[in-house]
Amino acid sequence: MADLFTPLKMGPNEFKNRIFMAPLTRSRADDDTDTPTDMMVEYYKQRASAGLIISEATQISPMGKGYIKTPGIYTDAHVAAWKKITDAVHSDGGKIFCQLWHVGRISHSLLLPEGEKPLAPSAIQADVQAYTSEGEQQCSIPKAMTKEDITNTISEYKNAAEKAKEAGFDGVEIHSANGYLLNQFLEDKTNQRSDEYGGSIENRIRFLTEVIEAVCDVWPKDQVGIRLSPTGHFNDIDDSDPLSLYSAVIEMLNEKELTYLHMVEKFPGADISNKDFYILTELIKKWDGLYMANGNYNYMDGQDAVRSERADAIAYGRPFISNPDLPKRFKIGAELNTPDEATFYQGGEKGYTDYPFLQEADDKTAVAA
Ligand SMILES: Cc1cc2nc3c(=O)[nH]c(=O)nc-3n(C[C@H](O)[C@H](O)[C@H](O)COP(=O)(O)O)c2cc1C
Repeated sequence: MADLFTPLKMGPNEFKNRIFMAPLTRSRADDDTDTPTDMMVEYYKQRASAGLIISEATQISPMGKGYIKTPGIYTDAHVAAWKKITDAVHSDGGKIFCQLWHVGRISHSLLLPEGEKPLAPSAIQADVQAYTSEGEQQCSIPKAMTKEDITNTISEYKNAAEKAKEAGFDGVEIHSANGYLLNQFLEDKTNQRSDEYGGSIENRIRFLTEVIEAVCDVWPKDQVGIRLSPTGHFNDIDDSDPLSLYSAVIEMLNEKELTYLHMVEKFPGADISNKDFYILTELIKKWDGLYMANGNYNYMDGQDAVRSERADAIAYGRPFISNPDLPKRFKIGAELNTPDEATFYQGGEKGYTDYPFLQEADDKTAVAA
């Protein structure tokens, strides 16, 4: 019977355990160029004992940006900076995928080149605050993407996938969750188009399908995963029939044979309703590949999910922020450090690379206890 410490094979990658690090935006990149900083090298290296690290969401182009200081993966300078990170993780025996991200309407003109409007399936403003250089501002009214915008954005995904490969990542995760661009095309609150990219479920899935095809032109499908949040409402997203929509999405993903499906089952601070649990359970049943679960999992829940074969791996988010050595702490039953929310998205090295590792003395106490 597999548990959290059992290695997992995924295409050419062998992960040493099933305690994965969830994608976590930490806003420590250079804001002018979107280039990862040296501080980020240290942060990811510290967490190389995860079976797999999924990088923080990383914008595929300047138009994909929605927050200050988030990193990009679209220039040669980004490749060079990410290469330092992937090398550091590999030299400590870890694996790392790049989460490819476009925020769509969750942005503000202050964050975009030449003060442009954010891109979205439809010109519907998000009831969400964007974090800009001038503080919090309501997201700008977006521009409904033209066919040309769609074609350009698909090319940007392809370019980012190529750059992620050059940067030495072990694979990529397509971010289609949490109310960002790909999620906006899927759900009918945000997609009110009347062309072949809107209306029916089949049409709303088209953009995601084309993005997957572009990314799989660059990467073998056994190194391409996807993140979905079918029951989520983060970033003002909603759909009138999530079970039908995501059943069709999963059917498409099965056809494309992506290597894993990663779902956000629960959101920080929110419980799960019976209805949402039902939807997630039905969707997991339909999926043929590896399943990675996320959201409010602790050690025990994670063990239960893997042992019962409900999930193949668990992605831990906040526990990895404050515990760089999380797998070791799980293994020996040690206490966890508490994450400091005030430094999630700011604070330089504080609350980023200064969380303590277990010392040898702590190990002994944990084992004796
Ligand atoms: C500080 C912070 C940053 C996050 N950034 C991302 C991100 O870049 N991409 C993403 O898909 N989810 C992001 N999330 C969501 C997490 O990946 C995860 O779904 C959530 O924290 C629930 O998992 P947990 O209970 O293990 O923390 C973020 C969450 C937090 C708290």
